[in-house]
This record gives sequence, C-alpha cells and structure tokens, in this order.
Amino acid sequence: MPWMSTNTSTIGFIGAGNMATALIEGLLANGYSPASLWASDTSDTRLAALSQKGVCTTADNSVLVSKCDIVVLAVKPQVMATVVSAIAPTLAKHDCLLISIAAGITLASLSQWSHPRQRIVRCMPNTPALVQLGASACCGNSMISQSDRDATTAIVDAVGISCWLDNEKQIDAVTALSGSGPAYFFLLMEAMQQAAAALGLSEDISRTLCLQTALGAATLASRSAVDVQELRRQVTSPGGTTEAAIRQFESEKLREIVMRAMQQAALRSEELAKN
Ligand SMILES: NC(=O)c1ccc[n+]([C@@H]2O[C@H](COP(=O)([O-])OP(=O)(O)OC[C@H]3O[C@@H](n4cnc5c(N)ncnc54)[C@H](OP(=O)(O)O)[C@@H]3O)[C@@H](O)[C@H]2O)c1
Repeated sequence: MPWMSTNTSTIGFIGAGNMATALIEGLLANGYSPASLWASDTSDTRLAALSQKGVCTTADNSVLVSKCDIVVLAVKPQVMATVVSAIAPTLAKHDCLLISIAAGITLASLSQWSHPRQRIVRCMPNTPALVQLGASACCGNSMISQSDRDATTAIVDAVGISCWLDNEKQIDAVTALSGSGPAYFFLLMEAMQQAAAALGLSEDISRTLCLQTALGAATLASRSAVDVQELRRQVTSPGGTTEAAIRQFESEKLREIVMRAMQQAALRSEELAKN
C-alpha cells in the first residue's frame, strides 16, 4: 500500500458500525497510525472500543470533520440526509474529501446536502470486507483529483480489492454483482448442503466440505491464468459425474435464472437511489 506509507492524511469515520470498524481495522493492519484516525458515533460503547485501540473519537460529527482531510460517511442510508446536512456548514469552511459507502445514496444527493464544490466519492463495498476480502467499486464527482482517487483506493483496499467505474450508473450493476453477490453464493451453498444431507451426509460433514469447496473454487479461480469457463471445462470429464450435474443445471436454465435475478437486483438498486 504505497500511498499509506507516505501519506499523512487524517481519516475520519462518521458512523463507527460494522463497515467503519472493518475499514479502521484494515487500515491499522496495514500500518496506518491510530492517532491519524477519527471516529464519531451515537454509541458510546462503539467509540470506547475504538478509543482503546488508540483511535481518536468524538460524539460530534462536525468536530470530526474539522479534524480530518478525508471523511468516510458510514451511517445507514436512512440517516444520511440528516447527517450530511448537519455537517454541511463545517464542510463549507473546511476542505476535505467526502467518501460515502452508503447503498443507494447518489453523488447528486450528497452534493445537494453538502455544497456544490464538495469533493465526493461514492463507494459500494460488500460484506466480505468484514474479513478483509471485500470487493468495492468507486466513482467520484467532477470535483475530485487523482490524489483523491489514490487516497480512496488505499482506504477501501485495506479491506480487499477495488475498482473505479466510468460512470455512477454502473453502481446498480455493481450492487447486483458484488454488493448482493455474497448472498447468492450463500444460497447456493445452502442448497448444496441440503442436497448433500438428502444424499446421506451428516449436517456437519456437508457444511465442512461445502464451505471448503467454495473457498477452494474461488481461490483456484482467482489464482488461475484461465477464466472460470475453462476451469469448469477442465473439471467436467465427458460422461462423468460433474457433467451429469452441469447438464441438469443447463437444462433447467440456471444462466437465465441468474440473469433475471441480477436484473431484479439492479432494478431495485436504481429504485432505491431514486427514492
Ligand atoms: N454492512 C455491509 O455489508 C455493507 C455493504 C455495503 C455498504 N454498506 C453501507 O455501509 C453503511 C454502514 O453500514 P453498517 O453495516 O456498518 O451499519 P451499522 O453497523 O449500523 O453502522 C452505522 C453506525 O452509525 C451510527 N449512527 C447512526 N446515526 C448516527 C449519527 N447521526 N452520527 C454518527 N453515527 C451515527 C449507528 O449507531 P446506532 O446503531 O446507534 O444507530 C451505527 O453505529 C451503510 O450506509 C450501508 O449501506 C454496508
């Protein structure tokens, strides 16, 4: 993480819940100094836990903004308008980069609640960020610079990997893929464990073998030089067991089901952003 070793930016998190804590832990694990991190929250307990790690804390979001070069908005989407409107006067006086990780909150809304010249990045992380295996996609408004992009990348990469989108509209597709994606794999694993139990395995063995198979398949795919289609071909011997299962998936139109499911997720993401 080259940016982190040289950068002296102070980073604040408004909302010290699951995602903010994961990001803070990722930054600390990557060598970032706790004295350069701030967190604010309505919960004293959450702040006390971070304070014990050396992170600076405050119950006042405006104080946090006044102390930081980068402010990460990590509150729930429903309270975002109230939170950003309340810190807007401080943002107007204090130049900082605003990064929102809230689902469904657009750059236009964030700009409207803060001020038109505010530098804003919108990121869509996912839950594996909690175990430092997140996948995030980011986009920014026209006010951000290359160094804002680099700083954002360094923060979200502390909990996984990230990419930048050409335009904000693509966030809906990202939400349908990596945002909601962990649940699709959970559903498939759930179904596989049920099927294994029906085939005579114990719940314990079904779970252990299923989770390790998912982990192994994802690791193999991420380390392989060939794409997943080719990996599937390589493990599907003609006339074998895998081919029998794959033929069944294909005849029951698994690909079309996935296409329709992800279209629904993207549509819902678009609707939530409009609301
Ligand atoms: N979790 C995920 O996997 C995930 C994935 C993608 C995006 N996100 C986004 O990440 C954001 C945070 O999600 P999360 O799961 O980390 O939520 P969370 O655990 O509920 O954390 C939000 C924190 O913000 C606090 N808060 C509420 N109002 C506040 C205020 N006015 N000022 C300061 N803090 C306030 C909450 O306190 P109280 O509990 O007392 O209200 C809570 O501690 C959301 O916008 C979500 O859309 C999350």
